[in-house]
Amino acid sequence: MQTDFLVIGSGIAGLTFALKAAHQFPDKKVLVVTKAQADETNTKYAQGGIAGVTDFEKDSFDKHIEDTLIAGDGLCNEKVVEIVVKEGVDRIQEIIEWGARFDKEADGDYKLGREGGHSEYRILHHKDVTGREMERALLDALARYNNIEVVKHCFVVDLITQHHLGYLVTKATPDIECYGVYVLNRETNQIEKIIANYTLLATGGNGQVYRSTTNPYIATGDGVAMVYRAKGRIENMEFIQFHPTALYEPGVRGQSFLITEAVRGDGGILRNKNGEAFMERYDERKDLAPRDIVARAIDSEMKITGTEHVYLDVRHIPLEKFTEHFPNIYEKCKSIGIDVTKHLIPVAPAAHYSCGGIKADEWGRTSINKLYAAGECASTGLHGANRLASNSLLEAMVFAHRCFMDVAQKIQTKHSSSLQMKETDIPVWNASGTTEPKEMILITQSLKEVQQVMSDYVGIVRTDTRLERAMKRLDLLWTETEALYETTTLSPQLCELRNMITVSYLIVKGANFRKESRGLHFNTDYPQKSELVQNIVL
Ligand code: FAD
Ligand code: SIN
Repeated sequence: MQTDFLVIGSGIAGLTFALKAAHQFPDKKVLVVTKAQADETNTKYAQGGIAGVTDFEKDSFDKHIEDTLIAGDGLCNEKVVEIVVKEGVDRIQEIIEWGARFDKEADGDYKLGREGGHSEYRILHHKDVTGREMERALLDALARYNNIEVVKHCFVVDLITQHHLGYLVTKATPDIECYGVYVLNRETNQIEKIIANYTLLATGGNGQVYRSTTNPYIATGDGVAMVYRAKGRIENMEFIQFHPTALYEPGVRGQSFLITEAVRGDGGILRNKNGEAFMERYDERKDLAPRDIVARAIDSEMKITGTEHVYLDVRHIPLEKFTEHFPNIYEKCKSIGIDVTKHLIPVAPAAHYSCGGIKADEWGRTSINKLYAAGECASTGLHGANRLASNSLLEAMVFAHRCFMDVAQKIQTKHSSSLQMKETDIPVWNASGTTEPKEMILITQSLKEVQQVMSDYVGIVRTDTRLERAMKRLDLLWTETEALYETTTLSPQLCELRNMITVSYLIVKGANFRKESRGLHFNTDYPQKSELVQNIVL
């Protein structure tokens, strides 16, 4: 397959880019590939909403910028923060024009929610299913363009660069270039080539490397692992955000149900096993302190009281108000026997968001030519050491737009207007010497081990000893998995395992390099912030 624009991922970042490219260049082809159903994305599960300044009487760009910088704990790129906050308003308007509906007051003004770290009410939302609504609007808009093709269940295995033409490519190689990707066609079980003029990675997060996560099963960090293998630059992977309040359901594996922070914005109170509202002992902003602080406070309370969860108390919130804003959460709680007017909701932190990722500049350009990154897989400098709640949907749209602007400018200035690489120039995938896997358990068990290691040793609180242990265990898993990879016919499960080990390794390596505690990275061996403010680039 050959295409002008290749978009990997059908979440908010990928679809925003695809819509813009298809609209501006009706004679060019946009190919969107996704490894699952088109809407099975982190985007679909977003609850709280999208942060943006819309009420200029009470709020301002300066306040949103300030809140983002405070949450980022000294590591945000201030220029990027300003770009996202200011340009975000236009992107929000755009998705409204594409059909996304956000809740309104009776007078027509937007109903604005509030979450941890925000000094004002500024979160636009669609009840407690904002992401589902945004994903719906984007997919509906996409269907109006016949120059966009969406290929589902198409697993991207690797980026194609000079390496595949027989050249030695290292981290020091200048001008590494992306010609497209190798994909695993699930229908034929063959590895095929897609050659593209421009490729956007919009592959989302990596929460699945932890045992407990709010992320769906697609979130295995594939984009980051691919770029690392292709010798591109990866940044700040140690900053994994744990959401303080995932619903605690013993025995449930995989994705945990989220209880949005907006519940605390509407007055929800965290309580420990003894019923004490403990947040006031940790931060003057109490339940609405930034996420890193709340998650660590919960972790500490769980350790002190010897429990696996704390509670969220919403009993004092009038039922009508609660069900109007959070109908999905109300139903979910009811389905497992929790009456939110009478019972406390058991919650525990779960891996939620990757603040670092593929290093991208202010136009979403990666260190590999013709390869862009946007959304959760990218590290743009917006989040620094900790993401402010509801800033990620905003960032994804702003950067998808910026990637598009950069590509459009290149095309219009004839920098590169036609495919330079022909399909026949790229070698077919070499699968010689591989056979069908004999035992799936070799993959599934290793996957569980990765999640166990990451949760036990590389969670909310870290130490040098834990990180060292994690690295040793990951080394072993890596060696075993590479042996399997060399000898086995590829499957998505095997590729994901390999990617998850790579991503875990990058998280541990980043954490090892960071000899301080800052934002989401807390190492008890270095409890203070270092004076040296630096990004860790791998
Ligand atoms: P995604 O939406 O995750 O899409 C990734 C895409 O890449 C998918 O289509 C996937 O199939 C595809 N893909 C991945 N690997 C491959 C591969 N190898 N081959 C082919 N395709 C591949 N943020 C907010 O701002 N506000 C919120 O209220 C909010 N709530 C959240 C609630 C939950 C439960 C979760 C999990 C996240 C929440 N976030 C929120 C974060 C936000 O939803 C995500 O950061 C954002 O949606 C990511 O969008 P994306 O386009 O980068 O990736
Ligand atoms: C939430 O609704 O609490 C999640 C918001 C976010 O992750 O930005």
